[in-house]
Amino acid sequence: MNSITILDKEFVPYLVEKEIQEKITALADQLNKDYANKRPIFLSILNGSFLFTADLFKQITIEAEVCFIKLASYKGMSSSGNVITAIGLEANVSGRDIIILEDIIDTGKTLHHYLPQLLSSNPASIKVAVLLNKKEALQFPVKVDYTCFEIPNKFVVGYGLDYDGLGRNSKDIYQLK
Ligand code: IMP
Ligand code: MG
Repeated sequence: MNSITILDKEFVPYLVEKEIQEKITALADQLNKDYANKRPIFLSILNGSFLFTADLFKQITIEAEVCFIKLASYKGMSSSGNVITAIGLEANVSGRDIIILEDIIDTGKTLHHYLPQLLSSNPASIKVAVLLNKKEALQFPVKVDYTCFEIPNKFVVGYGLDYDGLGRNSKDIYQLK
């Protein structure tokens, strides 16, 4: 695999499609076991999680629902101050088991701000499943229940993740050179 250039930055190959898909299959297997007979709602956080959500959800074999919200706290390559709800929650989550799907936990700010809001709608349970976890970057405590990859504190793009809106349409994940 070759490195790629997006706008002014060069990125090198980091996680390839096959290993991403293997981790997602393993996560789906685990969730199919943990949520058997529970009819969970998968709550996907747009935009970054759309490919992760689609590939995971196709492998969920138990009864399950999926819905989407859009939270934004990220501008360019560092987190901005606020967490904005650009598209809110339509589903009634009261009494339901919720699995949040997030592409990446970086500072933790997005979920740290959103989780209390979700809790106020009285779900039966909330678990967090992430594709990528940048543990060393965490500044706002978030309990992550399922992680596909723990990664170092370096900017990544691809497989839904963007640099300034670009790079989401890559099957592999690249790391800033
Ligand atoms: P947090 O609120 O700092 O945890 O950031 C979460 C959001 O920032 C993620 O859902 C991503 O949309 C974005 N983000 C964080 N790190 C990266 C990265 O390395 N590449 C692309 N987007 C990122
Ligand atoms: Mg995101």
